[in-house]
Amino acid sequence: MKLKIGLSLFFFVFETSMVGAMAAELNGEALYQKYCSICHGPEGRGDGHAAFFMSPKPRDFSSGRFKLRSTLPGEPPSDSDLLVTVTKGMHGSPMPSFEPLPERERRYRTCG
Ligand code: HEC
Repeated sequence: MKLKIGLSLFFFVFETSMVGAMAAELNGEALYQKYCSICHGPEGRGDGHAAFFMSPKPRDFSSGRFKLRSTLPGEPPSDSDLLVTVTKGMHGSPMPSFEPLPERERRYRTCG
């Protein structure tokens, strides 16, 4: 009996930690590091490992300058502007389209 309770407790803890790991995967920071930092850099300064070879260079997000936005000059792009950029990519530049990924993940990466 004790063993049975012990075992089910073990599986309960194991299962909840698996769910925890999956939730952590949907964390904006983790997703950014996984998919974006190779170009945009670990801190978003446009200095990722692959940036050296690129033209135009990946955006340095700390500059606050964006090409694709529906907002007024000087204002940051809206969440939906960023979602469009990440979904469609930027034509004629190395910025790829992330369309194959679920929208939930694309949102986390930009707006999370
Ligand atoms: C293969 C390299 C590469 C990867 C990976 C990449 N980007 Fe980019 N990104 C670029 C480049 C290059 C530009 C600049 C393009 C330009 O100026 O025409 C850019 C520009 C941008 C911009 C600026 C758009 C604007 O309006 O100026 C945003 C926002 C952006 N990327 C977000 C992301 C996000 C979020 C990810 C991860 C999901 C990502 N990028 C992954 C290369 C990359």
